[in-house]
Amino acid sequence: MSEQNTQQEQKKIIFSGIQPTGTFTLGNYIGAVSHWGKLQDDYNCIYSIVDMHAITVRQDPAELRKHTLEAYALILACGIDPKKSIAFIQSHNRHHAEMNWILSCSTQFGELSRMTQFKDKSQKHPDDINAGLFTYPVLMAGDILLYKADLVPVGVDQKQHLELARNVAQRFNQRYGELFTVPDAYIPKVGAKVMSLADPTKKMSKSDENQNGCIYILDEPDVIIRKFKKAVTDSEACVRYAEGKDGINNLMSIYSVVTGKTNEEIEREFEGKGYGDFKIAVGEAVADHLKPVREEYKRLIADKAYLKECYTAGAEAAMRISAKTIAKAYRKVGFVDMK
Ligand code: TYM
Repeated sequence: MSEQNTQQEQKKIIFSGIQPTGTFTLGNYIGAVSHWGKLQDDYNCIYSIVDMHAITVRQDPAELRKHTLEAYALILACGIDPKKSIAFIQSHNRHHAEMNWILSCSTQFGELSRMTQFKDKSQKHPDDINAGLFTYPVLMAGDILLYKADLVPVGVDQKQHLELARNVAQRFNQRYGELFTVPDAYIPKVGAKVMSLADPTKKMSKSDENQNGCIYILDEPDVIIRKFKKAVTDSEACVRYAEGKDGINNLMSIYSVVTGKTNEEIEREFEGKGYGDFKIAVGEAVADHLKPVREEYKRLIADKAYLKECYTAGAEAAMRISAKTIAKAYRKVGFVDMK
């Protein structure tokens, strides 16, 4: 085996996914996707557009297809290099559905009932509390365990799902003998929960009723700056990071991530200045930071043949890995081998 191959084998494995439910928000980007590209040299990275998760809430099929391709182009535009990482569309690899069933039988009804995202989403969609919405965390556990991922880069809102994946992995290993790696969350120190600009006590989310609260990474610069200008803050008019200053804390975290400045540096930079100046500075810094992503996205989305080449190769590479895990899982639970 060549030295390069040995190094490749020794690297830890990373898995993460994102739903193709429209353009990514600044929260998706800062909390998760912006880190994915940076990890590619030090880890064996596998990233997926999780379209199977998306259908747990009702989707227009044509829109879902369009959004899935857009999301794929977007992760590449955010720095995922399909030559360094495996980047694929979840439904292209049937092992995810197969693993979902195996793991469902090692997951308790009670533990799924405790998932806060299930409670939130069933409140938001009371007319469609489907079984997929309930068992969604099992599908997610399978995504991670199929590739024996060591680390899972996600925002804080996915922590509970990751805990469940760990419990399911441990339970299966105890029942049937060692198979799965028990994964750890990889949560950024700053920006793991970007808050809505309109209500900084709530997470920034696509489903925010007030769209001024949510920045999309493909928003034009003037739109980004306008939304930041309207950001809800407090009445103190002093740029400092402190308890109770949710709006300013959120803006400082965002500014810190896109400029690399510490909170102390930011406080010094805006000493004696009002919130108006600060909000414009954050808006401009975010717009500048996202410019190359927007440009690269426009180039990629126009090149459907290239995207197809990448996601096909990605799915093939993903399946080569997951085929081994699913075959072992089948054997461990006692299914008869066909060969
Ligand atoms: P999704 O598609 O809702 O979000 C994708 C990633 O973005 C993070 N995120 C945020 N981070 C900081 N602040 C915010 N306001 C914010 N909003 C979203 C999420 O934490 C996530 O990391 N179930 C997952 C997708 C998934 C997955 C997986 C992730 C499916 N299988 C396996 C990791 C591993 C989800 O719905 O993420």
